Amino acid sequence: MEVFKTIFLLYFLILEKVIPQTCPSSSTTSYGSPLIHDDHTATVGSNGPVVLEDTEFLDEMSHFDRERIPPRVVHAKGFGASGYFEVTNDITKYSAAKVFSQIGKKTPIAVRLSSTLSDQGIADTIRDVRGFSVKFYTEDGIWDLVGNDFPVFFIRDPRLFPHVIHALKRHPTTNLFNATTRWDFYTLRPETAHIVMWLYSDMGTPYSMRHINGYGVNTFKLVNKSGQHVYCKFHLYSRQGIKNYSGKEAAAIQASDLDIYQRDMFNNIAKGNYPSWTMHIQVMTQNQADTSTFNIFDDTKVWPEDQYPLIEVGRLTLTKNPINYFEEVEQIAFCPTRMVPGIRPSVDRMLHGRLYSYTDTQLYRLGANYMQLPINRPCNVQNYQRDGKMTFYSQGGAVNYHPNSFGGPNASHWAQSLSSPYFTSGVVGVYDNGDEDNFSQATYFYKHRLDDAGRNNFIENVFDELRNAERFIQKKAIKMFKKIDESLAQNLATKLNSAK
Ligand code: HEM
Repeated sequence: MEVFKTIFLLYFLILEKVIPQTCPSSSTTSYGSPLIHDDHTATVGSNGPVVLEDTEFLDEMSHFDRERIPPRVVHAKGFGASGYFEVTNDITKYSAAKVFSQIGKKTPIAVRLSSTLSDQGIADTIRDVRGFSVKFYTEDGIWDLVGNDFPVFFIRDPRLFPHVIHALKRHPTTNLFNATTRWDFYTLRPETAHIVMWLYSDMGTPYSMRHINGYGVNTFKLVNKSGQHVYCKFHLYSRQGIKNYSGKEAAAIQASDLDIYQRDMFNNIAKGNYPSWTMHIQVMTQNQADTSTFNIFDDTKVWPEDQYPLIEVGRLTLTKNPINYFEEVEQIAFCPTRMVPGIRPSVDRMLHGRLYSYTDTQLYRLGANYMQLPINRPCNVQNYQRDGKMTFYSQGGAVNYHPNSFGGPNASHWAQSLSSPYFTSGVVGVYDNGDEDNFSQATYFYKHRLDDAGRNNFIENVFDELRNAERFIQKKAIKMFKKIDESLAQNLATKLNSAK
């Protein structure tokens, strides 16, 4: 065990550059050799061809040719910052996770805020769902809370994820965003109705990312030290308040500033005006879940706050901009699989789909050892995983199989006691869940969350996009809106008819 610790410490010291390396004062090749020249290739005479022996040029160019990595398949455009999470309320009766263990306890965090459907170069203020991902570097490893700024999602079965993304992103022929495919999908899969209300309200065009909330969306389980569980939703409420642009204001900004959200966040943090969010949870006992009038694992539904009140947990504060965007933001990898003892997945189908997809895409986007990159690296890895492309740390000479008689690490009894085993049985099959009360919460949103001005803007925002869809799709959309609110459907139909 001692040997193992020493190896780990040595690795850590080298990686953290505590052990100094000799640094050349000149610029160098990638292999550290001082450069002969920075700005010119070696040629045959002053006007002749470049020679292959100019290895400096080859070295620089071949690295440049590989600078870009695949963008995220969704949430491609984003920016990040780091800071800390501080516990402000005792929730240990619900969860034994060490990150919540004591009021006043601080845990370092890294956050990435993103647009969902945009490409990397597109304007920040286009209508979109915003991603709000938080990486907690806890003493028990990484906990990733990968959320959005709306509490609900488009679909409730992960099989449909590639389809909703294809329908909402660029068309395969024109490579343009396409109102027909979007509204075709919405109307054919009416479980989208609730998020459509959020997305086409002014919530779809926030004033800044400091003024959005974050929601974990999926249902998780919290497990306390006695092994008892509750179901849980995570919410991050902006302490700056919610503030939005109208559709017209957002469009006007696109003409002058593509990156207004990133600029706003960067400048505020740089000025010391640190943005912060309050973490709340909603909890539900197994008994409440069993008798709930709605499916608590359906991510197109919210849990009414009057029945499941918000419980404060702590505060997230962002205090530091990245020093290197690529290292700290492009290479950061969030994944709902990363949970710590005291936080577990529920049987939420969408969450299960996510548990597979993120790691899979990150292995492709970043490579086999992306968890060893400094921004992703937990403080405490000791296991039997070894090697692979771009290994920085293969755990030295530590024993690499289990069981062993050489003091290699074993699973934790404590983590086991918090694993929350559960009974399940049933017939394996394909069950259609497309028709589980798609409209009542959408109606509630339209009638009670929006005021008159909000409702007018909603109609205006839908009209702005839907007028570009084919006529038969417009009719289907009106039919869908009728199920949400008659007057909404009527007003929209009148506008669309007069625009023909
Ligand atoms: C079955 C449903 C879903 C699947 C298969 C899925 C898949 C993905 C994939 C493949 C990525 C790219 C990850 C990367 O390249 O690092 C991603 C990113 C993301 N997803 Fe999902 N997603 C799903 C649902 C959701 C839901 C419900 C939410 C909101 C709670 C969400 C929030 C995010 C966020 C915020 C990111 C960006 C993470 C970052 O900043 O790097 N996704 N998703």
